[in-house]
Amino acid sequence: MLDMLELVWGAGFLSPGGPAAVDEIVDGLDLAGKLVVDIGSGLGGVDVHLARQHGARVIGMEIAAPLVALAQARVAAAGLSDRVDLRHCAPGPLALDDASLDVVFSKDSLIHVADKDAVFRDYRRVLAPGGWLVMSDWMRGPGPYSKDMEYWFEMEGLSYHMQPLDFYAGALEAAGFAEIEVVDTSAEYRVLCDAEYAQMKGPLRDRMAAILGAETRDHFVENWRAMTVVLHKGELRTGRVRARKP
Ligand SMILES: C[S@@+](CC[C@H](N)C(=O)[O-])C[C@H]1O[C@@H](n2cnc3c(N)ncnc32)[C@H](O)[C@@H]1O
Repeated sequence: MLDMLELVWGAGFLSPGGPAAVDEIVDGLDLAGKLVVDIGSGLGGVDVHLARQHGARVIGMEIAAPLVALAQARVAAAGLSDRVDLRHCAPGPLALDDASLDVVFSKDSLIHVADKDAVFRDYRRVLAPGGWLVMSDWMRGPGPYSKDMEYWFEMEGLSYHMQPLDFYAGALEAAGFAEIEVVDTSAEYRVLCDAEYAQMKGPLRDRMAAILGAETRDHFVENWRAMTVVLHKGELRTGRVRARKP
């Protein structure tokens, strides 16, 4: 699964868009020397990029212990172990001091978190005054899930906790954030996802079969087709969010 996702999304990434998507999330922020916590650090590609290209000091928080070990190896190979500290964490409040962070960053990980109100209150707690929460995520459209959406969940084999984009503004305000911005990025993601699907049906087809076997490869190709359906219907969406602790 990891090898297959890296094949489609790039080395070190468990989400779409790669380093360019990270740059968009932190656009306009000067991270040089700043302390950033990355929620859901996955395979560490985000953290290597934040440290190497943006000069940040990074604490990665990740609930899947095997991913932490793989990401640590990647960070060590990049010679960044002195600036990137990857930690295995439990769901719930962060084991970080109050007002100790400059930035809370997350790329496409809060989809797994049911109680977003609670985590936003906790992110506000750990941020220093003036600090930023910057993130992207998969989101849902308004209304109940259709059969197409349920079929895509079945293909994914995972349960998600998605919210509509407008949920974020209200939840962040209630958690005490200011300067809240939410941007719907679904139009860009539709183009990207269509391109990923075309790659999977074409140039990546044989390499995927070599990694996964033909049957599992075919499952993933169908999974991506199902994702393009719900994306084009507007039921699955993506967005970027930022907000500041006053
Ligand atoms: C879709 S992946 C994205 C990983 C990484 N941010 C990236 O863009 O490559 C989501 C990650 O969040 C992790 N995760 C899920 N719930 C979490 C939580 N409550 N705290 C920390 N990490 C979590 C998952 O284990 C997974 O590695």
